[in-house]
Amino acid sequence: MNVNVVGSGYVGTTLAACLAEMGHEITAIDIDESVVATINEGRAPLHEPGLDELLAEHVGTRLQATTSYADLADADLTFLAIGTPSRSDGSIDLGPLSAAAEMVGEALSGLGGDREHLVVVKSTITPPGLDRVREALATGLGDVAGAVEFATNPEFLREGTAVSDFRNPDKIVFGTESASALATLEELYAPLIESTDSPIVRTDPETAMLIKYANNAFLATKISLANDLGNVSKEFGLDAYEVMEAVGLDDRIGEQFLRSGVGWGGSCFPKDVNALIFSAREVGYEPPLLEAAVEVNDRQPERLLALLDEHVDVAGERVAVLGLAFKPGTDDVRNSRAIPLIEGLLERGATVVGYDPVATETMREVFSDTEIEYADSAEDALAGASGAVVATDWDEFAALDSEFDAMAEPVVVDGRRIIERREGITYEGLTW
Ligand code: UDX
Repeated sequence: MNVNVVGSGYVGTTLAACLAEMGHEITAIDIDESVVATINEGRAPLHEPGLDELLAEHVGTRLQATTSYADLADADLTFLAIGTPSRSDGSIDLGPLSAAAEMVGEALSGLGGDREHLVVVKSTITPPGLDRVREALATGLGDVAGAVEFATNPEFLREGTAVSDFRNPDKIVFGTESASALATLEELYAPLIESTDSPIVRTDPETAMLIKYANNAFLATKISLANDLGNVSKEFGLDAYEVMEAVGLDDRIGEQFLRSGVGWGGSCFPKDVNALIFSAREVGYEPPLLEAAVEVNDRQPERLLALLDEHVDVAGERVAVLGLAFKPGTDDVRNSRAIPLIEGLLERGATVVGYDPVATETMREVFSDTEIEYADSAEDALAGASGAVVATDWDEFAALDSEFDAMAEPVVVDGRRIIERREGITYEGLTW
């Protein structure tokens, strides 16, 4: 099939590359010329394992990128994979997505005769927000609104494993309004459906989107519950991991996403949980559990710093922050728990020395070199530090040992349970 993918972020680029691999002809459209140029050189505009290889293979044959919407109507369908950033009140900014939807509508307004086109929303938007996108599309389309169908197809990709998650999805969710739209999506995904036994969920566009939100809200709340119970364990002097690993053996609970610590970050969980709370409030419902999930998450960094305070007054001292990325395997620092930790340390008057294997450059956009120092290795960050806090569970931190000997005060507060307890350091786990 002939497919447009509008938006070349990690979702859109992964989708474009993986659809090309499935044999489809793909046009990736983005307003950013440098992103388009990078894709057309066969490289990914962001760090995502496996994506460079896929682009190198398919760019120039089955995949091309452009900033132009002009030839959009030549394709069978158009995905909208535009970002939906958070506003400070938790709501999402539909501006970029609506603008793209209107441009797609305008580009399709030349559709002649009975030629049909399917517009599929990949971006994450709450069900009430979908109406805005529908309206923007209809505005662009003008007279030919009837020739275009509307669908949603939410994504469940994790950063760092997006390509393998796409190839092996736990489920594929189609939100359509007609049998023909559903048939189009099933034809598009047929190679994937045939090669995996992933269940297909067929529903309406709004329900499909709520499935996405409910999925992320459930996972984020699951971690927050593990953190809440972990805090109780800590106060009882018991090991939260031992407890939760055993709890996770219950099939009804499952073993994943029970690792307690400094909380969840990233581009999805904080944004999606807050957007769902905002949207629910707008229709008159305050979701107490979701609000509590956010509250537990917001409190964990301060709990971690309180443990440091018990051992050392960091005012005027160097403190190492090990790990800046929101999780291992990525240079993404969006909503990383390292950010509130650094803010709390700066408020205490500490000199912060951050280290991350890959996320230093991205964190420099949040904290400049005048605000905090950046070290080239964990060893350099620890040297002379009166305390270290661990924000990300990078494997390399598990191997740290004699590096702690150079600390001025060897107090280590581990927010991710990655550091080995050893002689010579005062170790504090956040939830044990
Ligand atoms: C998440 C969802 O997993 C994915 O399905 C959705 O499409 C996008 O959001 P991602 O943000 O890439 O993916 O990261 P994920 O691996 O889910 O981790 C999110 C955060 O939770 C990280 O900060 C991680 O450190 C934290 N986490 C995860 C825990 O604190 N404990 C756990 O047990 C698991």
